[in-house]
Formats: sequence, structure tokens, C-alpha cells
Amino acid sequence: MGFLADALSRVKPSATIAMTQKARELKASGMDVISLSVGEPDFDTPDHIKEAAIDAIRRGETKYPPVSGIVPLREAIVRKFKRENGLDYKPSQTIVGTGGKHVIYNALLATLNPGDEVVIPRPYWVSYPEMVALAGGTAVFAETDMAHAFKLQPEELERVITPKTKWIILNSPSNPSGAAYSHAELKALTDVLMRHPHVWVLTDDMYEHLTYGDFTFVTPAQVEPGLYERTLTMNGVSKAYAMTGWRIGYAAGPEHLIKAMDFIQGQQTSGATTIAQWAAVAALDGTQEHLARFRAAFQDRRDLVVSMLNQATGLKCPMPEGAFYVYPSCAALIGRKTEAGKTIETDEDFVTELLQTEGVAAVHGSAFGLGPNLRISYATSNKALEEACTRIQRFCASLR
Ligand SMILES: Cc1ncc(COP(=O)(O)O)c(C=O)c1O
Repeated sequence: MGFLADALSRVKPSATIAMTQKARELKASGMDVISLSVGEPDFDTPDHIKEAAIDAIRRGETKYPPVSGIVPLREAIVRKFKRENGLDYKPSQTIVGTGGKHVIYNALLATLNPGDEVVIPRPYWVSYPEMVALAGGTAVFAETDMAHAFKLQPEELERVITPKTKWIILNSPSNPSGAAYSHAELKALTDVLMRHPHVWVLTDDMYEHLTYGDFTFVTPAQVEPGLYERTLTMNGVSKAYAMTGWRIGYAAGPEHLIKAMDFIQGQQTSGATTIAQWAAVAALDGTQEHLARFRAAFQDRRDLVVSMLNQATGLKCPMPEGAFYVYPSCAALIGRKTEAGKTIETDEDFVTELLQTEGVAAVHGSAFGLGPNLRISYATSNKALEEACTRIQRFCASLR
């Protein structure tokens, strides 16, 4: 009420940012804190990408960009989708935004009317429901469970679709669970969507390049070409190129949708930073050699963390296919007491006590819509991970 907008009351603060902040405060007070709550690679942006940005500054690429993105980047995006996903788009079917988050938000702003529903599988990336709410739509949650590795099942998708459904957001590999859909698993979902021609698909492919073992990434419009006309394929450079601070995301889809997003962006940001866009051209068109290094490091850490967490009393941790998160259940520890006599009633209690007694920061699963779990980011050194998991084991063993 009063001076601030009512829209603020529709939005929750980000639990991941809150946990990172809490960890930072404890660290500042002198505690030895290991943060497993961050959502970004610990690697540096590859040098050839930085050089491209420096060159762009020297060439004077410092004026307003076209709203939807500089032509060389839109062309590089077209090449990327063709080369990596077998998808044909024209440059006019692409748009560049200030991070993947901004692209998703604009797609929702450009399409949602009051009463429109957006299907979001749980556990979800924290921003989806909030962005839907800000854009005036209604989030409708689809349930998953650990027995199905947190992957949406076709029957559940069928159950949640109504005549008001406008979008489904599909995020694979997933933040927070790391789960990624195989071709067959995704096809089972796109088969359902083919029976509901009013439902559009918003893919969040941010973690496309971070998959492990022999897993092969696929995206909905590739698996089911029949969905091409109602799919927005979203991706970005933040995770695969360690470029979270550059703030470049992009998407491709039907031209009328891209035009609507361009229209909003024109009155909003007037397009993403030119220098970062030139860096993104180098990221997409340049050598992908660093990816093998990133993947090998992340796979090694995933294996370490899953193994050590499964040795902790009461934790159960599935082995995810991608991203840099694991999502163990702490269900067996709910109801137990800490040495100080505090009862662990929720996963939020679990992560709070873990941070206070052992100085390990994780995020509670209920913040992502499914608990009692915790999300652990393994985008940090093996040494820190080993120490953190040892502390988690000690904490779990201390609960009575
Ligand atoms: C699933 C998912 N989608 C989108 C984003 C946003 O990416 P960007 O940093 O490019 O806005 C993130 C970042 O954490 C994410 O985890």
C-alpha cells in the first residue's frame, strides 16, 4: 500500500540470493564458510571472448545497438541453432536480451493476460513463478518426484493443462535438480503438447553444454518439429562460456512473437550492451575448446559430491545428467534434533543449522517448490567440495 506498487506483493525475494547474503555475513564475522549456494561457474571467461570485447571497444562499437541485437550476433545465433540443434531460423526470428532471465521475462510480458496460466514443473528455477506473477499471469505447478529423477511425466503434464494454459516452461538440464531429458523422455512430453495446440513451449536451455557422460542434449522444437511454430527456444552464454556478468541471453521463435518482444524491449532497455554482444559473437562462433575442460571438471565434481552425500547419514542423492547442481533429499532427517537441541522441522531448518554449525551454505529445496531437499551447487573447487561434504557428513551424523 501507499507509495510502492501492489505488484511487489506478488513477488517473493530470491532464496538463493538470501542464502548467499547470509553466508557472506557469517564470513565477514570471521567464520570459515564454504558457499555451495552460487549459480555460476567458478571459471573465468575464455581469453578470446575477452579480446573480442576489447577489440569492440577499440573499434568504437559503443553506440546504441539495434533493439533486438546487433546483426552479427543474430547471425551467429542462427548458425548456433543450425549447428548444434538442427534448427532453422532466420535472423529476424532471433532476439538478444540482457541475460537469459530478461529474455524469458520479456516473452512473458509480451504474451500474458490476466488469467493466463503458465505450467511450471517443480522443482523450478526460483525466478519462473515470480516472473509469471509480475507479468500478470498465473503459475500452475506440475509435480515431479525423486523416483522419476525430478522429471515431468506425460500423465502429469496432461493433468495440469487447461483451456487457459498459455505456456509450459521446460528447463533441461534443470536448475535446481540437474535433471536433463533424453530424446525419448522429451518426446513423451511433446506428444502430449501436440494434442493441445493452444499451449506454447518456452524452453530454458541455459545449461545445454553442461551435460556429462554419454548424455545427448535435445531441445523440444528439434524433437518435435510440429511444435516449431509455437516454441520459443531460449539459451544464453552465461553458463557455457562463464559469462554470467556480461548479461547476454537470446532466443529464437516465430517472428510475430519476436516482434512483440522487440516492441517491449524498445521501451525498456533499447537492447543489450554492444560490447557484451560482440563478446557473445566470439563465444558462439569461436573455438569451443574450453567446453571439454569445463565439462570434465564439472563431471568430476558431480561424481565426488554425489558419492560423498550418499555416504552422509539420512541423505539420498540422485545422480543428475547436467548443470552444476545436485538435489539430495533430507526427508529421513526431518524430526531429528541438533546437538544444541533444535528440532529440524523443515529443509529450511536443515540448511540454516548446517550453515550455523558447520559453515556450509546450501539452499533449501522448498525455495524451488519441492522438498524436503537441498540444492547444492558444485561450481567450486574439488578441495572446497570435499571439505564441505565432510562437514555435511559430520552434521548429519550429529543429528539425533
Ligand atoms: C535455469 C536458468 N535459467 C536462466 C538463468 C538466467 O541466466 P542469465 O544469467 O543469462 O540471466 C539461470 C541463471 O541462474 C538459470 O539457472
